[in-house]
Amino acid sequence: MKSSETAFRMAPSAISGLAVPAAARRSVLHALVAGAAGTVLSQAARAQAVARDAVVIRSDSSPYVPTPQKVVDEMLRMGRLSAKDFIVDLGSGDGRIIITAAQRMAVRGFGVDLDAELVRYANASAKQAGVSDRVEFFQRDIFKTDLSGADVVTMYLLPEVNMMARPKLLAELRPGARVVTHDYHFEDWLPDDRITLDVPEKKVGTPGLAYVYMWIVPGQGAGRWQGRMPVAGGQTLPVELDLEQRFQILTGTVSLGGRPAKLVFAEMIGNDLSVIFSAEVGGRQVRHEIRAPARGDEAAGSVRAGNETPPPLLPGQAVLSRVVKRKAHLG
Ligand SMILES: C[S@@+](CC[C@H](N)C(=O)[O-])C[C@H]1O[C@@H](n2cnc3c(N)ncnc32)[C@H](O)[C@@H]1O
Repeated sequence: MKSSETAFRMAPSAISGLAVPAAARRSVLHALVAGAAGTVLSQAARAQAVARDAVVIRSDSSPYVPTPQKVVDEMLRMGRLSAKDFIVDLGSGDGRIIITAAQRMAVRGFGVDLDAELVRYANASAKQAGVSDRVEFFQRDIFKTDLSGADVVTMYLLPEVNMMARPKLLAELRPGARVVTHDYHFEDWLPDDRITLDVPEKKVGTPGLAYVYMWIVPGQGAGRWQGRMPVAGGQTLPVELDLEQRFQILTGTVSLGGRPAKLVFAEMIGNDLSVIFSAEVGGRQVRHEIRAPARGDEAAGSVRAGNETPPPLLPGQAVLSRVVKRKAHLG
């Protein structure tokens, strides 16, 4: 045994009934320990981290810190997983996220990690957990991993690695796929959901706290849309939307019945065009909410209108066609 391996101890794993072998835990996300991206731990801080068994260190820079089980559970909840989903963990460590998902939600998926030892361990854990027919772990760089089949991608990586992966996620994942991260986000691609958890045993990042973020990959909603929609009072009126898109957020103008209305908020939720605007109907300002799944340049969906919360659903549908297409900014 190499001297570097002697220091490692067996520790209980969050995966039911398994123990993480000491050798598989000998990495550290040193920047997470330090609480700042790219900060290299001093010798003393490394020694301290090992002593408290929070993380284990290895000399190269590949980082490994397991996500506490409570945070894994929340990540899977926020990923809105269903049994038909395929999940991918980028930088899968001991495999706990994928294995938990397979155990609890019967999903299929895979994890990739640069660390061969962790990959071996994760595959052995999957076998022991009885889910190796549905999940697998590969020694592979996340940047050489095809993400096109994933419904949910999970990540617990350094902030700059998140940002390097962002264009790949937006280019390869289908609209509607979810990305869930632990602690770090994607800067100006704002999350669709987020939560802060108390995790007293967590010693890295912001000790005692974990942040979980979720994004829904947006489809293309930018352009000029024209069509008709029901409005409060029983009429159907022509509607026009002229929209720019940055990630999921749409900005621009809306007119109803040929008159300008006030756009309150618009976004692409996957391929669903969601638009909230206020327009004058029958002499008063009325809130209208369109939620229209888009297929290419056609969108059709429900309308709610009224100043109650939520506004009542109107009979009939908004039916829209994109007459001018614009390129969305998907960074
Ligand atoms: C913080 S750990 C997270 C482990 C696991 N996902 C979890 O949450 O418990 C990050 C993992 O990413 C792996 N990793 C870092 N960069 C990678 C890359 N470019 N490709 C594949 N794996 C990578 C590390 O080896 C490490 O195991």
